[in-house]
Amino acid sequence: MCGIFGMITKDDRPLGEVLLEAGRRLAYRGYDSIGCATLDGEGKTDLRKDVGRIDDVNARLHFPEMKGRRGMVQLRWATFGAPSPVNAQPHYDSDGDLVGAHNGNIVNQVALREAFLSEGMTVRGTNDGESCVHAVERYVDRGYAMPEAVRLATRDLQGDYAFVIAHVNDDVLYAVKQGSGLVAAITEDAAFVASDLPSILPLSRNMLRLEDGEMVVLRPGHAEVFKLSDGSRVDRQPQEVDISVKAAEKGGYPHFMLKEINEQPQVAAELLHWLDASPDVQPFIDEMAAARRLYLVGCGTSYHACLLGAAQLNRLAGIPAVADLAPHFRETLARTLGPEDVVIWVSQSGETKDVLSALKAARPSGVRNLAVFNVLGSSLMHAADRYLPLACGYEVSVPATKTYLNQALLFSYIADRLSATPGTTPWNRFPLLVENTITRCDARVRELADELVAIEDLYCLGYGVTYGVALEGALKLKEVTYAHCEGMLSSEFKHGPLSAVTNGYPVLFVTTPEDTRMIVSHVSEVSCRGGRTIAFGPADPLLQINVDSLIEVQDAGPAMTPLLTVLPLQLLSYHLSVTRGIDPDFPRNLSKTLTVD
Ligand code: M6R
Repeated sequence: MCGIFGMITKDDRPLGEVLLEAGRRLAYRGYDSIGCATLDGEGKTDLRKDVGRIDDVNARLHFPEMKGRRGMVQLRWATFGAPSPVNAQPHYDSDGDLVGAHNGNIVNQVALREAFLSEGMTVRGTNDGESCVHAVERYVDRGYAMPEAVRLATRDLQGDYAFVIAHVNDDVLYAVKQGSGLVAAITEDAAFVASDLPSILPLSRNMLRLEDGEMVVLRPGHAEVFKLSDGSRVDRQPQEVDISVKAAEKGGYPHFMLKEINEQPQVAAELLHWLDASPDVQPFIDEMAAARRLYLVGCGTSYHACLLGAAQLNRLAGIPAVADLAPHFRETLARTLGPEDVVIWVSQSGETKDVLSALKAARPSGVRNLAVFNVLGSSLMHAADRYLPLACGYEVSVPATKTYLNQALLFSYIADRLSATPGTTPWNRFPLLVENTITRCDARVRELADELVAIEDLYCLGYGVTYGVALEGALKLKEVTYAHCEGMLSSEFKHGPLSAVTNGYPVLFVTTPEDTRMIVSHVSEVSCRGGRTIAFGPADPLLQINVDSLIEVQDAGPAMTPLLTVLPLQLLSYHLSVTRGIDPDFPRNLSKTLTVD
């Protein structure tokens, strides 16, 4: 997830070291390139940026040499435009009068880029952050003063973003918050703005909270807030905050896993904006629809998203998509592929060796290799013929949560677009449904975690579209609680595992309205033998009288409900992990990216 930091002081001074340190504090968000810009009192600018780790880039570009009274640093996590020096931020406008950097996604950047070029501007890269700078340039060129130009520019930018920008000919720093995080802070002779608290905290604790739809105008010792809608001033005073840098990195949450679970409404909204607007989406969907055979292939959590995605494509769009585990695919179906077939390789990291090896094995068949991943610039991006990004930002915690949701969301959205009634699912409600589900389930799930704290063995069962969700719930539980939890198709349970059930033996069931009738039958097989049955899904009278506990999830229709059912399972895994004294972010023996066979 990108990070920006900007500052303004009373006089020219060595700002490079301060910017570098602020960049280091933003690094926990993840990045692939870094850049710093300074502006001095004489109107001179200095911009240095490159791809790589902060210390390596600094060794080449010597950020501490940079001087000025205004400065900014940006760490880029590529979503639009591959990681490259020209796409690294900050960016100049056409003639170098403006310098700015952003955080978030500008979803109409392709159309904007064409418009800027046709208006005669110099557009150097394909990064959407550059669009923010040219959008302001457009209004400066039309004669608007900077505050008004910044405000008007935001009308042309679609998406969730925040940006910071400065003009060489004034002594002010401007920043906008429109869907991405942004905080401001002041001291007696300086002012700061940043994507989040950790980069500012060592410099000031006098914080000014900003809201979406606001612009902050920074001068040394002052921060004024204005509404983007009409330019009117907002009366808001800075407040002292008392929080450590470490706690701030986790957004105030005790663990990254919980932070990332709670980021899901935001990342889902960003992905949906992007899926609606990006010109890359329709060609991807066209290839899926035209495939003779369509396979969704991944490992671990990504495979579970493939299972759910294939089920959604089958059920909503009538497309016979098949999900498989990458090494299994490599040894079986990969031997039967042809040029009319399409494989979608699904991965958070884009570096999983099992996935890359299977792709390599499939390539000689002439199959079309599409990909879905979170890390732009990854090996999978370079290996694929076409790709869609997950737009989740950096996922720190080893257990995947927000990337699973966006993988499942991406396939469900496409299945809905390929259905006989496209556009009937109200996807714009989805982020709020995710937020409400997390909020409403949490207390009940905490109680359940207390009840199950000593459990060392359990099952998590699903049927139909929730089969993949059950496998994902089971994986999350075993990964962060160290208990043995087996995920399975609920109908398979009677074919052997049922012998594990004794009095009070816990079995979790994941269900949606389509599967409830069958699930109820499988619940009965357990409960009549004294097992403890706990269901996750929408309320249903038949289900309610048959299970011991129901963790209720709202019924939001066949496209969205299966996506919501994973949320209480993520929360249950998290709370059980913490209750059992385990650090869920870094479970023993596991690694976030598996680059070995
Ligand atoms: O980066 P990938 O999605 O390709 O990783 C695949 C698995 O290693 C991964 O999903 C793993 O199962 C999760 N970290 C579990 O939470």
